[in-house]
Amino acid sequence: MSEEHEVGPAETLTPGTVTGAGPYAVGNSGGELFAVTRRCRHLGADLAGGKIDEQGRLVCPWHQSAYDVRTGRMVRGPQGVFAKIPGLGAVFRGITRVLPLGRGTVVERDGCLYVR
Ligand code: FES
Repeated sequence: MSEEHEVGPAETLTPGTVTGAGPYAVGNSGGELFAVTRRCRHLGADLAGGKIDEQGRLVCPWHQSAYDVRTGRMVRGPQGVFAKIPGLGAVFRGITRVLPLGRGTVVERDGCLYVR
């Protein structure tokens, strides 16, 4: 059985919210709860400090790469100075096709959320 981590009261994880629980970034993307491993595949930023953008993607707090929370794949490469490096975004998108973020399962019990 996999280890379970407490996220907190279910009512606090409103749409657009991201938080951390153990090794996971847990959030609410358009009403859908998700959990992905919290280290960005680019330079390791904590994705629990990220944001949900208007397209429901999880955006890294350091260089704004964006992840599809359903697949764990990076769908937009690092921005800023990194976006000027030819092919860099494609490389990282390719890496996460092979090595996506891990995904956890969010469950609710007695009004409290857990991830495992
Ligand atoms: S560490 Fe996440 S985009 Fe750079």
